[in-house]
Amino acid sequence: MFTQPIATLRHDGGSLVVLDQAQLPWRTVEHRLATLEDVAEAISAMRVRGAPLIGCVAAFGVAVALAGEAGDDAALDHALAVLRATRPTAVNLAWALNRMDACLRPLSPATRCEAAWVEAEAIRAEDAAMCEAIGAHGLGLLRALRVREGRALRVMTHCNAGWLATAGMGTALAPVYAACAEGLEVEVFVSETRPRNQGLLTAWELAAAGIRHTLIADNAAGLLLMRGEADAVIVGADRIAANGDTANKVGTYLKALAAHAAGVPFYIAAPASTFDPRTPYGEAIPVEERTADEVLFIDGLDGEGCPRRLRLVPEGIRAVNPAFDVTPAALVSGFITERGVFGIEGLAGFLQDVQV
Ligand code: MRU
Repeated sequence: MFTQPIATLRHDGGSLVVLDQAQLPWRTVEHRLATLEDVAEAISAMRVRGAPLIGCVAAFGVAVALAGEAGDDAALDHALAVLRATRPTAVNLAWALNRMDACLRPLSPATRCEAAWVEAEAIRAEDAAMCEAIGAHGLGLLRALRVREGRALRVMTHCNAGWLATAGMGTALAPVYAACAEGLEVEVFVSETRPRNQGLLTAWELAAAGIRHTLIADNAAGLLLMRGEADAVIVGADRIAANGDTANKVGTYLKALAAHAAGVPFYIAAPASTFDPRTPYGEAIPVEERTADEVLFIDGLDGEGCPRRLRLVPEGIRAVNPAFDVTPAALVSGFITERGVFGIEGLAGFLQDVQV
């Protein structure tokens, strides 16, 4: 079983301690969340990020909110509403909060807080197990690709769907970790993922694990795919609609188009909690619009090694910042889930089986 080098979240007394991803890859700092407002801020400011992790943290957020409260319906409704409003695209958030609601609502107010910790812990443990299963199923896929190629396997990914984005070993990177643990030679192309550069988180993870990787500018992906320099693209997801259209970090769609044009398989790795049968197709997925400052400014280290934020463009230039895009199901070669790998034809059966 994969052990996270640093826990993305841990429960400590009546509060939650998370690894502050807003400070990575420059500083490794934990951040304590002692109130509902702390938890909501951590999710919306992306101190914690990645669809599965957001769901886990939101679940614990309900427990944090009910600690020291009467635990009545008003307190529960308030906690759920505040957490639900933090980020709109990753359906894992709503999924986890609906599950907390269904578990806690029938209970007496006095017992809800204790039950909330237990249920949140169950969600966390299930997420870790789902990641492990995604890794095992994805490993089968990578083995098959490698047999055909007979050399190091080159996987391209986007954003960060590694252990940082979950309570376990990640989704898109889980097959890579599983393959490396088995001794398969894998190289990962990591795209920067402007504007927030979550690709740097992926590079940081892979470097720590000793896995060969190469950082590329987002705009280089098309050329590499066209030249056949990647054998497969594997990305995570924030919400998969009933028809298989998939929302993921902005820039994913362009990779899917380029992979399709180049005949390179394009896989989505995600647990059942990322599938949303209530959203019929991609256009119905809410796409988060974040502040333009994320485009206008960039974070890095100065000459002394101190974290700094730099303005990239002169004052007065307008920017828009959609945080996600939607890849049509037709561009997806397969979904790597905890139940196995399937194409679009297997989606209806999967949704029926897991009943999310
Ligand atoms: O905005 P973020 O960093 O939370 O977006 C993350 C992604 O888009 C990931 O690819 C997705 O959540 C899957 S994480 C296992």
